[in-house]
Amino acid sequence: MKHTFLDLGTQPIANKFLQEAGEDEYKFNLTVEFDDETKLVSLGNFVRPELMFNDSYVYHSSNSDTMRKHFKDYSQLLKEDFNPQKVLEIGSNDGVFVRNFDQKTTIAVEPCGNFAQLTNAMHYETYNEFWSMDLAKRIIKEHGKRDLISSSNCICHIQNLDEAFAGISECLSEDGIFVFEDPSLILMLERVSYDQIYDEHAHIFSVTALQNLLNRNGLEIFRVDNLEVHGGSNRIYACKIGARNVEKSVAVNLEFEDKHGIGDLKTYQDFARKVQKSKDSLNDILIDLKSKGKKIVSYGATSKSTTVFNYCGIGPDLIDYIVDTTADKQGKLSPGMHIPVVSPDSGFDETVDVAFLGAWNYEKEILAKEQRFIKDGGKFITHIPYVRVVGTSA
Ligand code: TYD
Repeated sequence: MKHTFLDLGTQPIANKFLQEAGEDEYKFNLTVEFDDETKLVSLGNFVRPELMFNDSYVYHSSNSDTMRKHFKDYSQLLKEDFNPQKVLEIGSNDGVFVRNFDQKTTIAVEPCGNFAQLTNAMHYETYNEFWSMDLAKRIIKEHGKRDLISSSNCICHIQNLDEAFAGISECLSEDGIFVFEDPSLILMLERVSYDQIYDEHAHIFSVTALQNLLNRNGLEIFRVDNLEVHGGSNRIYACKIGARNVEKSVAVNLEFEDKHGIGDLKTYQDFARKVQKSKDSLNDILIDLKSKGKKIVSYGATSKSTTVFNYCGIGPDLIDYIVDTTADKQGKLSPGMHIPVVSPDSGFDETVDVAFLGAWNYEKEILAKEQRFIKDGGKFITHIPYVRVVGTSA
């Protein structure tokens, strides 16, 4: 049975930045459910994939030093531990992962045409479509089964997980591995990072729920790595049931989640109360600073901040603008609340008093880069794990 435990209100498509205020915007009610059978946490209302993932998708996976290094190290680890020959990536975005593998033996799947074009131009054969059982069968026919299927921040976008996992199982060679990473539910609960919830994240995964869903599609988890990227993620290594030794990290993660109530509805109801408190505190601090005449901006036009601003009702009256390095977002308005987005070069200057960390997951990288702002008395605010000022100079 499914239980709705959180309502984040009316929300737009998190990555659909507007050219101008009058544009039509698709809106939906962002609720979250817990399935007490599979333990899966999912959105109550899925958004049609074509509305989110299309030829004008703006999110670049290689948008920071942190992520470029992450994908390089990840590829190196896969080569050293598994030496995969035939590789497939589902959701290849701008090619930040595949570029570490040989063009002749690596293929990509990417539904956003603008990104599929990029990897095709890099000579990686790219299927410009959504992952499906039908595509899995075509890939087997045209290229053979795969030793490695990798997918980063994409499996949690897929609404029908049974079909996705069945297709992956079909496409995997007998001792092939399926490795994927997505935001971690246990860390979202711990960090009160409710902004991991937005249209694209159809599910927020626990290892527990994934074990249940993979098992019923002929797969099992044999290793779990806990990662800091994207605000706290898990990298899940799966194989056909019985094909490999199951490592200790699997039981460690399952036990940890169990101990922290991953299977209890009450855990999610407690989380919802903390989310309400976070909203109140954020509004209080921003309204207070504004009343003192401070200029507030946001740092990083993230999908996460779309959820925060729309849920908390924070618009241009509180936040003058958002600075972001992504050219495709600059000169546009943020989804729903219509806060202008500008480049850091033009907007992150001495007139700014306070910056809300929309990209709180890059706190370390940003604080290191913006030492001058801090030394000059500028303040960063984060809402993770509770609303507070960070990076004050000593
Ligand atoms: P990310 O946190 O990956 O976002 P999402 O919530 O959409 O998954 O994206 C970080 C965004 O912040 C991205 O648009 C790039 C931007 N950014 C900056 O503008 N400056 C920076 O120093 C960093 C690290 C990111």
